[in-house]
Amino acid sequence: MKDHLNIVRHPLVQHKLTLMRDKTTPTAVFRQLLREISQLLAYEVTRELDMTTRHIETPLAEMDAPVLAGKKMALVSILRAGNGLLDGVLELIPSARVGFIGLYRDEKTLQPVQYYFKVPTELGERLVICLDPMLATGHSAAKAVSLLKEAGADNIRFLCLLAAPEGVACMKAEHPDVPIVTAALDERLNEQGYIVPGLGDAGDRMYGTK
Ligand code: URA
Repeated sequence: MKDHLNIVRHPLVQHKLTLMRDKTTPTAVFRQLLREISQLLAYEVTRELDMTTRHIETPLAEMDAPVLAGKKMALVSILRAGNGLLDGVLELIPSARVGFIGLYRDEKTLQPVQYYFKVPTELGERLVICLDPMLATGHSAAKAVSLLKEAGADNIRFLCLLAAPEGVACMKAEHPDVPIVTAALDERLNEQGYIVPGLGDAGDRMYGTK
C-alpha cells in the first residue's frame, strides 16, 4: 500500500456511512451497517495481498487459478469499539488470528495506558490489521501500534471508519510506515475530542450505552 492515507470513496461505503452518522439510526441498524461497511473496507485493506496459483480442474478444463499465497494475518481490535469492525472483517477472513488491546486514558497525563494486551504469536510474520472505528486524537492508535511493534509486528495497517486530521497527523508523525484505510476524513476534533461532524461515540452507538 503506497499512500499513508487511503480514503475509500465507494458509493456503498459512503451511503452506509451517512446512515451511520444520522443520529436517528437505531443501535441494531448501526451495528449491522458497521458490519457491512467493515467488509467493504476490508476489501480495500487487503487489496494487495500476495497471490499464487493452484492447479485445478473445472468441469470443462484444467487451469492454474489464483489463490491467496497464505501469508499469515492478524486482526487486532482496540477495545471496545474495535470489536464492531472486527466482527465483519473476521467473517470475510475467517482464518485470521485475532488480538485485543485495551487502553484507558490516564487522567493526569492524558496519555493512553495499556490495561489488556493479548495478541497472536509470530506477529513478525503476519500482516497485522489494527482496528478502531474512530481515529480521533490518534493517541490510542499510535500507542496500540507501538505496542504491536514492541511485540514484533513490522507489517501493520490501520483500519478505521472515520479519521480526524489530528489523528492522521499523529499517526504520520509516529508511524509513517503504517498505512491508514478509512471511509472518510472529517473536519476536526471538538474540545471533548469528538470527531466533527463524526457520528458520536462509536462504542455507545454500537452497544446502546451512554
Ligand atoms: N471516539 C468516538 O467514539 N467518537 C469520536 O468522535 C471520537 C472518538
